[in-house]
Amino acid sequence: MKNRVLGTTGVSVGEIGMGCMPISVHGRPSEETGIEAINAALEAGITLFDTADSYCLETAEMGHNEQVLAKALKNHPEAYVATKGGLLRPEGQWETDGRPQRLREACEASLKALDRDDIFLYQFHHPDLKVNFADSIGALADLQRAGKIVHIGLSNVTVEELDEALSIVPIVSVQNRMNVFDRSSAAVLRRCEELGIAFLPYSPLNGMGQAGKLGDNKVLAAIAAENSLSPQQVALAWLLQHSPVILPIPGASRAKNIVNSAGASAVTLSAADIEQLNAIA
Ligand SMILES: NC(=O)c1ccc[n+]([C@@H]2O[C@H](COP(=O)([O-])OP(=O)(O)OC[C@H]3O[C@@H](n4cnc5c(N)ncnc54)[C@H](OP(=O)(O)O)[C@@H]3O)[C@@H](O)[C@H]2O)c1
Repeated sequence: MKNRVLGTTGVSVGEIGMGCMPISVHGRPSEETGIEAINAALEAGITLFDTADSYCLETAEMGHNEQVLAKALKNHPEAYVATKGGLLRPEGQWETDGRPQRLREACEASLKALDRDDIFLYQFHHPDLKVNFADSIGALADLQRAGKIVHIGLSNVTVEELDEALSIVPIVSVQNRMNVFDRSSAAVLRRCEELGIAFLPYSPLNGMGQAGKLGDNKVLAAIAAENSLSPQQVALAWLLQHSPVILPIPGASRAKNIVNSAGASAVTLSAADIEQLNAIA
């Protein structure tokens, strides 16, 4: 696995990370299967694990994903964990709650669930339209000053929100949706490139429901067949070549899938392949 520096942190991580959401949300496998997937990711050279307090079935079991990850990483203090706060799961829905007091409580709960002294990367999961954005970011700045958070990241933000947050506190990463079919965050990616901020594209395989069907796309299928790759590896390799600040975090709950995705790090797509993939969106 090749490494990339995560934004302005100076920290090198495996250039393919692991999104741990599928281990804890609707359709999740047994905990044992999820832990097997995390172990397989470690063996494949993955060192960055993305989670969130809200990766669970409902608000009553907030922290589920962080707890499973903590179990799997017990003997791997070297692994980097990126978690998030700012969402709740009432009756399985996703609901924003960016009140400063709630973010403080969420961060404390994440520290406990992850069983770590501090959180390497704490991402504000989603701006809350009911709360002044600067107040939410201010709460994260306070948590950083208190030593509970090492680095701060954002998720689901616009260029304007990124710039506003940067006027308050250093931001090392942005996590927005991006994949070969979805370039809606192109302007945010450009701003990250200008500033040397890491961009963690979420749903890099087009999301949990669609990831298995990437081969239905003729361009992806043809490039995969020509190069003896899976269509998922082609989609991830395209992201890696799309920008040097990108660190894809493919989700997985099964070992064979995350191992296959990690293999994208060894792929170099030709200029002709890239041109065809660029034209998909
Ligand atoms: N910030 C946000 O708002 C936000 C939103 C969504 C996701 N995320 C983060 O981003 C991560 C990735 O996004 P995502 O999970 O939504 O979607 P994704 O990465 O596009 O797709 C995940 C699905 O792909 C399957 N998969 C993985 N590698 C594969 C391979 N090589 N071949 C075939 N299938 C493969 C997995 O199946 P199995 O589960 O069966 O292994 C999983 O269900 C999440 O896990 C989460 O950490 C963040």
